[in-house]
Amino acid sequence: MSTVLVTGGAGFIGSHTCVELLDAGFNIIVLDNFSNSKPESLRRIEKISGKSFKFYEADLLDLDAVNRVFDENPEIDAVIHFAGLKAVGESVSKPVEYYHNNITGTLMLIKAMRTHNVKRIVFSSSATVYGVNNPVPYVETMPTNSSTNPYGYTKVMIEQILKDVYAADNEWSISLLRYFNPIGAHSSGLIGEDPNGIPNNLFPYIQQVATGKREFLGVFGNDYDTPDGTGVRDYIHVVDLAKGHLCAVKYVMEHKGVEAVNLGTGKGSSVLDVLHAFEKACGKELPYKIMPRRAGDIDCYYAAPTKAKELFNWEAKYTIDDMCRDGWNFARQNPDGYGEG
Ligand code: NAD
Ligand code: UFG
Repeated sequence: MSTVLVTGGAGFIGSHTCVELLDAGFNIIVLDNFSNSKPESLRRIEKISGKSFKFYEADLLDLDAVNRVFDENPEIDAVIHFAGLKAVGESVSKPVEYYHNNITGTLMLIKAMRTHNVKRIVFSSSATVYGVNNPVPYVETMPTNSSTNPYGYTKVMIEQILKDVYAADNEWSISLLRYFNPIGAHSSGLIGEDPNGIPNNLFPYIQQVATGKREFLGVFGNDYDTPDGTGVRDYIHVVDLAKGHLCAVKYVMEHKGVEAVNLGTGKGSSVLDVLHAFEKACGKELPYKIMPRRAGDIDCYYAAPTKAKELFNWEAKYTIDDMCRDGWNFARQNPDGYGEG
């Protein structure tokens, strides 16, 4: 049985991936500093899976602490690296904190892995690495050297660092997973997305309009070059995304090299498409107001998902309706998220 260290495993995507790993018979060890998550999510992973696992409350910036995790667990075969800060707007006002946490944190992790001869890593990258100049659909071979914000640049830079790590030592197996827009929740309704404060992203905002926590959705622009004028994205069910990680881990167990792989559905949906699908799921009309465009947004992007199919034999299965059903189920059962956690 293989053992996977999951950094950021208490977070939104990490928690869903832990469930899939446990269900598939992997041992997991989770490291998280709870800077954007709560211990309650770990208890819920155990509840869903009926299995327990080792957990370290630690910061990736603390090299001694990261080394200790590997010292105490020599059975670790691979790492899935989710831990990072992810709020685009906040990264513009706190660039130093974002570069330090995401890049230094990753460097500490790589150092500890190298010391302990663990050379398999699956990294949480993002469609944001495609920047603003590539045509859609985004293909992995496109240039990825531009972004519009410090958060995006941390992903561009970490991808480059990992490519350089492989160039220096061909024993490494590295998977750079470029996520599109993960939404939804586990079908149990026990785990889902629980952002702090006012949500920045569309889906958690809609969830909070549906639970009555927010008055209306602000739709950021209806004059884009898209069918209904609102922004189009490739929304992917977080459980599909989690299953993609399972495939990626199995792949890095067996192949050396470095591969960038899109995890998306290949289909675009507009802001109003998502809103209306959510209305169907929750059975009520959700108020919205058209607002000015949000700085840095682009009109439309979605993935070319064929490489994931070829390399991992993975493809997304869930529809927007499934994502809204499960997202509503989580929001309804947890109107205050994980609470005090
Ligand atoms: P999240 O904030 O829910 O999870 C990240 C976890 O990492 C949190 O539990 C946080 O406490 C932890 N963490 C952050 N810095 C840490 C540190 N220095 N040491 C230890 N733990 C730390 O975010 P998520 O949505 O689950 O995203 C996971 C990863 O996927 C992130 O790297 C994110 O940038 C990337 N990603 C997310 C999206 C998205 O839309 N959610 C899209 C593309 C890429
Ligand atoms: N939107 C609204 N109102 C809101 C929030 C969002 O109309 O209150 C619109 C946006 O303008 C955009 C769409 O909904 O057209 C999606 O916006 P999100 O903020 O949910 O997601 P983004 O596509 O902007 O960005 C997300 C993550 C990034 C990641 C990127 C690429 O936030 O971290 O996907 O995967 F890099």
